Amino acid sequence: MKKPTETVLRSLNCVSFRNLQDTHIEWCAGLNVISGDNGHGKTNLLEACFFLAMGRSFRTARVDALPRRGSSSFSLGGEVSHRQVSHRLGVKAGRGLRERTLDGCQSDLGRTLGVLACLVFAAPRLALFRGGPDDRRRFLDRGIVGGKPFMVETYRDHLRALRQKNRLLKQARQARPVAALRDQLAAFNDQLAGTAATIRREREDYVKRLGKVLARDEGPAELVPGRRPEISYQPHPTLEEGMTGSREQLMAAYEERAEDEIRRGHALVGPQRDDLSIHQDGAEMSRFASAGQQRATLIALKMSKMLVHKEMTGSYPLLLVDDVDAELDAHRTRRALHLLSGPYQVLVASASAEAWAGDRRVVRHLRVRDGIISRFS
Ligand SMILES: Nc1ncnc2c1ncn2[C@@H]1O[C@H](COP(=O)(O)OP(=O)(O)OP(=O)(O)O)[C@@H](O)[C@H]1O
Ligand SMILES: [Mg+2]
Repeated sequence: MKKPTETVLRSLNCVSFRNLQDTHIEWCAGLNVISGDNGHGKTNLLEACFFLAMGRSFRTARVDALPRRGSSSFSLGGEVSHRQVSHRLGVKAGRGLRERTLDGCQSDLGRTLGVLACLVFAAPRLALFRGGPDDRRRFLDRGIVGGKPFMVETYRDHLRALRQKNRLLKQARQARPVAALRDQLAAFNDQLAGTAATIRREREDYVKRLGKVLARDEGPAELVPGRRPEISYQPHPTLEEGMTGSREQLMAAYEERAEDEIRRGHALVGPQRDDLSIHQDGAEMSRFASAGQQRATLIALKMSKMLVHKEMTGSYPLLLVDDVDAELDAHRTRRALHLLSGPYQVLVASASAEAWAGDRRVVRHLRVRDGIISRFS
């Protein structure tokens, strides 16, 4: 018997979102399927659930693309059961508007993430391999914040201080002599070394956890053709062997590069330059792996994220699965869906209703047609 899920999105209210007709939907614990022909609103429905949980879309950074054409804003609401306690989440957004509520009171992402976190498996853009280090840092940081929502503050503080430091360095570059700015620079470095040490420790721990899940037999890494992929964290600045990356050690590393930073006019050291290496058989997968190997690795890494989230918080995130079958061969699709139907809540969008007919794992099957959602029968 599967153990009951500890976090369940029980319902979704949707007003003026994309092409979806205003609606109230009840979801179940376990595997929920949304089927419908191309272009009818399946991904939009997953996107609405994701936005409710995470305060952003998984397919666009432009919030003004989300209100129904002709509307300037949209609102979403939902009831969540988290460790047997019910909560109400709400969000209203549009151009220049973003309001978030938890149980009727104004709230922020740090708080609501503790109630409902969400992980999406969508047709991968492969930015993790083809993008820059910032894409890989985002992959880590989102996982860390999902498991430890209070880290939102640390990242925010770090970014704020880094922006101020960069502004100062730019001034220093333009207006020599710089003696007067040195003290201010030291103060920023002092502040940054503290947040950098925390970010570094959390990233190191997170990569270690992901690595352990990837190394498991019969775990997510089985999806990947060839040798099992491995990951390693590449922090910046690199320190001599034996150093732990403590605040003091980082401060010393920052000071060592201070002159270079003044000369170049921007920050050269810190976690904003960290990277993640994903390799297979000793070779960097971004350079050597096939597109299929990269896609399968991405799905394996996401699944590992889900298991690590459970390890960190005691609950699984809500899983949204969009078109995984479009990316993998039949054998791997079966294996992925098997791994995805565990003791957690999953919403799967699929263009093929028949593929799910008679599947006994499915507890709810909805159909979307022209943005109208109904029971599949
Ligand atoms: N802001 C909006 N207002 C109204 N309609 C929109 C808006 N944004 C997107 N749409 C429409 O929503 C429709 C459904 O999009 P969606 O991506 O959900 O389809 P889908 O069912 O997932 O299709 P596929 O099977 O091809 O992935 C599209 O036809 C699109 O034109
Ligand atoms: Mg779609």
